[in-house]
Amino acid sequence: MPTAERSAVDVTSTSRGCAPAAGAAPHAGIAVERVTRRFGTAGGAELVALADLTLHVAPGEIVSVVGPSGCGKTTLLELICGLQRPDAGRLVSEPAALMPQRDLLLPWLSALDNAGLALRARGVSRAAARATAGPLFERLGLAGFERTRPAQLSGGMRQRVSLARSLLAGKPVLALDEPFAALDAITRAELQAWLGHTLAGERRTVVLVTHDVEEAVLLSDRVAVMSPRPGRVVTELEVALPRPRSRTDPALVQLRAQALAALGGRA
Ligand SMILES: Nc1ncnc2c1ncn2[C@@H]1O[C@H](COP(=O)(O)OP(=O)(O)OP(=O)(O)O)[C@@H](O)[C@H]1O
Ligand SMILES: [Mg+2]
Repeated sequence: MPTAERSAVDVTSTSRGCAPAAGAAPHAGIAVERVTRRFGTAGGAELVALADLTLHVAPGEIVSVVGPSGCGKTTLLELICGLQRPDAGRLVSEPAALMPQRDLLLPWLSALDNAGLALRARGVSRAAARATAGPLFERLGLAGFERTRPAQLSGGMRQRVSLARSLLAGKPVLALDEPFAALDAITRAELQAWLGHTLAGERRTVVLVTHDVEEAVLLSDRVAVMSPRPGRVVTELEVALPRPRSRTDPALVQLRAQALAALGGRA
């Protein structure tokens, strides 16, 4: 799984060189300040994916990012995880583990060994990695499927293995890219409840990208709404509701409507 030990980048608005900030101060949580990210296209033109995007996430905070397809959400997560670098602006993050939009499970490994991959990459023995991943399988409803190969798992199970892998990476920041998008409504609701419960039990900083505004309001402390490309954060909504939350709570329904209005019906 892609992870970054530390991302600390400071680039002037004219530079394309992406030099790391000299002596960048340690930062708890995530600071994305006026970040721009451009890509070259096949036709030789320049595509501006993110323009002047600013987002701060405090340690332990859960922030959802919603926005129309192609507005740069995955790009933002990859920048936070240090897999890409900004063309302009400043980005500092604690080490972050990415759960990618498409699960990248290795077909030749069992579900349990896929989940423990980040541990193995850190030099943990196979037996110890399995012993650590095992209890998480119970909690994720994957007990009995430890030895199953990804091809024999359902889409929902694959997502859960991928989530387990991200959690087991042990980084202070979790960057989740539409973790439940491919799931049916029932499985999605179950896993949303599970994730809410899990995150309440540990102090992780989370950036959750989702198309599902209800999911964003249900799970997060704050919802950041992005504009269409070039993406930037146009609205931030605080979700100061006690947990566990109910989808039918009128306050939650109202916040959901506010987020949808900010998206202009583009969710
Ligand atoms: N490596 C790349 N090279 C060129 N263009 C890219 C690259 N990665 C992303 N883009 C472009 O940047 C824009 C933002 O892409 P990104 O994947 O971040 O969007 P997204 O908000 O995650 O979309 P979705 O909701 O569909 O997942 C898109 O127009 C995409 O084509
Ligand atoms: Mg994406």
